[in-house]
Amino acid sequence: MNAPRARILGLGIHVPSQVVTNHDLTKMMDTSHEWIVERSGIEQRHWVGPEDGNFTMGLKAARMALADAGCDAAEIDCIIYATLSPDYYFPGCGVLIQRELGIGHVPAFDIRQQCAGFVYGLQMADSFIRAGQYRKILLIGSEVHSRLLDKSTRGRTVSVLFGDGAGAAVIGVSDDPARGILSSCMHSDGSDAECLAMQWPGVAAGREGFITHQDIDEARIFPNMEGQKVFKTAVKCMPEAVQEVLEKQGLAVSDLDMLIPHQANLRISEMVAKLLRLDASKVHNNIQKYGNTTAATIPLCLSEARALGKVKPGDLVCTVAFGSGFTWGAVLMRW
Ligand code: COA
Repeated sequence: MNAPRARILGLGIHVPSQVVTNHDLTKMMDTSHEWIVERSGIEQRHWVGPEDGNFTMGLKAARMALADAGCDAAEIDCIIYATLSPDYYFPGCGVLIQRELGIGHVPAFDIRQQCAGFVYGLQMADSFIRAGQYRKILLIGSEVHSRLLDKSTRGRTVSVLFGDGAGAAVIGVSDDPARGILSSCMHSDGSDAECLAMQWPGVAAGREGFITHQDIDEARIFPNMEGQKVFKTAVKCMPEAVQEVLEKQGLAVSDLDMLIPHQANLRISEMVAKLLRLDASKVHNNIQKYGNTTAATIPLCLSEARALGKVKPGDLVCTVAFGSGFTWGAVLMRW
């Protein structure tokens, strides 16, 4: 008997209502709308207000995805939660979703592949479903960056790029074997693990404690990034991953109807399309409105593309992501 095909049955998103424009950022740090747009394409991002944290946004996106899938929460038999900005150091956000949805004692996995978190989660969900382990999986990607960025001029290279938001998908057995996840590939290379990282607080060798006053005074507690190295590695790895998932199916870039790239930087997406020789009309970007929302960007972008009619049943759609670790991967789907 053939293994069941996994398919995204529903999508949901949530972004906080507070919009922060590039102009707003100029009141906090020495930057400009022109610099940010020229280097990244970002025009605005959303930041949470006091009413929201990571899992509360994830929950709103999850409820929307369940409604979109026509699926009752009680049918979910596995939760996968991708984030780099969890509400608590432990436990992870997955169990908070389990509690709020009031579903049974289903497993809750928390995964940590940063910007590649959602595509890693898609591969996990696909594998679980094809193996017959679970039948309806709730995958969530959610981030609250605004509470962990350095919003002074010192942190401007990183802080202008990131925004808050959440996205979710219900993944289940496809009723049409031609539609669903066709192939996926995931990769990692830890050689440059610290070049895009938040290393404090933490318990690494040599530390006096999880966090010290000195760590705060010396501003070690914020994310650090070697931007140019990240850029160069992303534009190499992302096209390779797209080619890899297509080749697994004997397909070519010319067969693609839509590419949904991780939204790290509009220049990265444009370069990926150029290297793949893919027309701009076959790539959907929305970083202009949201900034980089890390584990939430793929569902935010995919959901918007579907709403705009750019992703339709039967289309060949590829999602590709690259992030801290480095971790990267792609998922090819017949929508
Ligand atoms: N506003 C104004 N000026 C800024 C600034 C900001 N927000 N951030 C940095 N600058 C300044 C720098 O201080 C530097 O000034 P100097 O020339 O006087 O020293 C100048 O702009 C150039 O900085 P640099 O870091 O070399 O810019 P860049 O061309 O590499 O662009 C990034 C920076 C971050 C936009 C770019 O490297 C990038 O997008 N990298 C990938 C990041 C990414 O995708 N991360 C997430 C991956 S999942």
